[in-house]
Amino acid sequence: MDVQSVIACNNRSSKTSSHKEAQVMTAVPTSSSLLLACVLIFSACSLPSSSVGSQAVSVASLFPSSLCSSSSSDNAVNNRKSTLSVIHRFGPCNRGSSSKDRQNHAQLLRQDDERVSSIQSKLSGIAGDQSLASSNVRIPAKSGSTFAIGNYVVTIGLGNPKKDLNVLFDTGSDLTWTQCRPCAGFCYNQTDQVFDPSQSSSYANVSCSSTTCSQIRSGTSAAPGCAGSACVYGVKYGDGSFTVGLFATERLTLSPAEVIENFQFGCGQNNRGLFGRVAGLIGLGRDRISLVEQTASKYGRYFSYCLPSLSSSLGHLSFGNSGGSSAFTPMITLSDPSFYGINLVGISVGGNKLSIPQTIFSNAGTVIDSGTTITRLPQTAYKALQAAFRQGMKNYTMVPAVSPFDTCYDFSKYDEVSIPKVMFTFGGGLNVDLDPTGILYVLSRAQVCLAFAGNADDRSVGIYGNTQQKTFEVTYDVAGGRIGFGPNGCQ
Ligand SMILES: *[C@@H]1O[C@H](CO)[C@@H](O)[C@H](O)[C@H]1NC(C)=O
Ligand SMILES: *[C@@H]1O[C@H](CO)[C@@H](O)[C@H](O)[C@H]1NC(C)=O
Ligand SMILES: *[C@@H]1O[C@H](CO)[C@@H](O)[C@H](O)[C@H]1NC(C)=O
Repeated sequence: MDVQSVIACNNRSSKTSSHKEAQVMTAVPTSSSLLLACVLIFSACSLPSSSVGSQAVSVASLFPSSLCSSSSSDNAVNNRKSTLSVIHRFGPCNRGSSSKDRQNHAQLLRQDDERVSSIQSKLSGIAGDQSLASSNVRIPAKSGSTFAIGNYVVTIGLGNPKKDLNVLFDTGSDLTWTQCRPCAGFCYNQTDQVFDPSQSSSYANVSCSSTTCSQIRSGTSAAPGCAGSACVYGVKYGDGSFTVGLFATERLTLSPAEVIENFQFGCGQNNRGLFGRVAGLIGLGRDRISLVEQTASKYGRYFSYCLPSLSSSLGHLSFGNSGGSSAFTPMITLSDPSFYGINLVGISVGGNKLSIPQTIFSNAGTVIDSGTTITRLPQTAYKALQAAFRQGMKNYTMVPAVSPFDTCYDFSKYDEVSIPKVMFTFGGGLNVDLDPTGILYVLSRAQVCLAFAGNADDRSVGIYGNTQQKTFEVTYDVAGGRIGFGPNGCQ
């Protein structure tokens, strides 16, 4: 195959405070001493629940501001050197997003469906090469290649001298890449200047004959060949987006004090797809080319992030273990080992545990993903959640829903609403009491939806999505084999 033509090929194309004590305040104590005992033994205590099943939520608190509120409340970014600010791709803190992007729920939800389909087909072994036939970029998809992109963005520095690049971060992808000059094939428009390796003294091609190159070929992002002596990579995402280019090494600057030399990344010469105006992506998956694995000796395969409650606020992404108060659940390995699996064992609505057979969750398994927006549950589990939530929302007028939702309400007459609490329980007794912005997805004041969706059956894998992770410090202790949720990671 003519490799240059592979690279250059011309394609067609007010918050309530309820979440503050996530582990402790999930039920009503019958006496203060019981409360004390419960606080002392923390999450191991299960109390009878009753009237505190609902929470008052100010409707205004569900809406992002039109301005970026970069409050200094995010101490993590200020205090920890290996920490980056996280911004929502469609929010006002992203200097690359236009106001038009901001309200495009339909597009976001459609892409979310595509991402879910590709995760599910990868895990069910259905994924194959078939989608590639429709494209004239020959990228063997094999088992590994991934799917559409996430919604959260960080700024990294690449090269020497360093160039700042706005990139997506994704726990469901492994390869880090950015668009690169001379864009031999195609570069879509991005906010930052396109990275130019010829202007960097620290750039080097990975040799085609190196073990690293054969690994990337046999690994998750099979490469279609070599360009001269340089290694070529290619990744095709589940929605048809792709990036092809030179596999290279560079100096990666996460923060002024945190510089990683010889970081392996994709220098994309031909890039197409729904990447918005971001420069590329950093992959935080479990494969050996992910940032997590490449920095294993520095950060010990340990990272955490907090996704803000609103798209107008800042979150953070941190590498390395600097303490913190997360409670943990075991990390599970699913049939595709590049995903982070988690053991969902139960759901409570309004303080009452739903009666869902344990096997419904264990048969399907659950992926935790930073890039899926809306949590997908086995059909039986979703139906139980939906019924209990509707019961608790009887006072409000239901309105027609948009896919993937089926339970939406008109809040236009209210300043404050009372909504049922929703709590997820994971293996080992970890309870995660969701933030109100993790329960409701706001399309408009007149259409506020239960922010979950059901799978078509009970066999497809469940996905714990980023809406339900908001405000928690979500910790991936890959070396320790566990995932943690700490309350009040960010606002
Ligand atoms: C990229 O931006 C330029 C100038 O802003 C514009 O002329 C061009 O049409 C854009 N290209 C695409 C593919 O959107
Ligand atoms: C990397 O490889 C490409 C393709 O062979 C080549 O054009 C470029 O000059 C190489 N860059 C460096 C720094 O060696
Ligand atoms: C519904 O409204 C009534 C009257 O305002 C109130 O007493 C009741 O607690 C509300 N029910 C729920 C589930 O919020």
